[in-house]
Amino acid sequence: MPAREEPYTIAWDAETDCIVYIDQTLLPDRYEQMRCATVDDLARAIGRLEIRGAPALGIAGAMGVALAAVRSTEKDLGRFLDDIGRAAALLRSTRPTAVNLAWGIDRVKRKVAMAASVAEAKALAVAEAIAVAEEDELTCRRLGAFGEELFPTDCTVLTHCNAGALACRCWGTALGAIRSAVAAGKSVRVIACETRPLNQGSRLTCWELARDGIDVTLIPDSSAAYLMRKGKIDLVVVGADRITKDAVFNKIGTYMHAVAARHHGIPFYVAAPVSTFDLGRTEKDITVEERDRFELAYCGDRQLVPDDVKVLNYAFDATPLDLVDAIVTEIGVLRPPYAESFRLVKEREA
Ligand code: MRU
Repeated sequence: MPAREEPYTIAWDAETDCIVYIDQTLLPDRYEQMRCATVDDLARAIGRLEIRGAPALGIAGAMGVALAAVRSTEKDLGRFLDDIGRAAALLRSTRPTAVNLAWGIDRVKRKVAMAASVAEAKALAVAEAIAVAEEDELTCRRLGAFGEELFPTDCTVLTHCNAGALACRCWGTALGAIRSAVAAGKSVRVIACETRPLNQGSRLTCWELARDGIDVTLIPDSSAAYLMRKGKIDLVVVGADRITKDAVFNKIGTYMHAVAARHHGIPFYVAAPVSTFDLGRTEKDITVEERDRFELAYCGDRQLVPDDVKVLNYAFDATPLDLVDAIVTEIGVLRPPYAESFRLVKEREA
């Protein structure tokens, strides 16, 4: 890879055998790199959404297993593998919906299982975790190139949450397609939904697009349907945390955009790498993460709801595939009927 002036969202520091990452909870006020030296620190950072977004979680999972490997003091291969198993279980439990996390963990675990010694296992784990990160950049660039073909030469696109550089190693999936369209000379205006309650849209998507000089306007989530009605949106592009046989899981609020887009005859596209597919499962098999009431009940220090009121805070929702006009991946654009086009994904996974 050519040297970059900007740090990646998440990377392996070979000098200290640590993970370095941009703390996404601090943006847009502060742009700071943090460092994780232990699996416990990493699990905390993932739980707090300092590292977030499905592909970035895949990289974090992979690097987390590498971290467990290099920090293990076990000399015996069996006990070393027990350490790896415990770390993998902890990391896997941090966020249940984004399948990339488990995918990254399992990829490095499979490599480690091939080793004949602890030293070999450590080297294989680090090399595989770095490979996962490097592949993510290529994946996003390929996906972006396929995605930009869906964009008219002059268009306004609505997006939800952050499926950008910050959710990956760099470039992004949904925002990667937008970046590729802009790079191809298209005139693209982005409508970013704020994405309550944690505001990944206003804090992260607006921050990274504005920084790149891409035209972006923030709206409250609740005005998306009205803008569609007024003819102000040409297409919708979002990322995904998991794609099952029958549904796309993504940030809570995605489903309502898909319903509104179909009602108004606006194309609704999903951009996600093959690592986000989980085609052995259906919607009902998936655990949707429920997060703390605190995220909804407060805005900074200000309490927004009485103490005795219940709060239901799903982090994700599921959009049935019949509302999705196309899924953009690094191996091409998949269109309905998905039972057929998903064969391409299965062949890639095999
Ligand atoms: O809770 P988050 O911020 O991790 O949710 C992220 C999303 O829902 C993204 O849209 C998804 O992970 C795709 S990122 C390319």
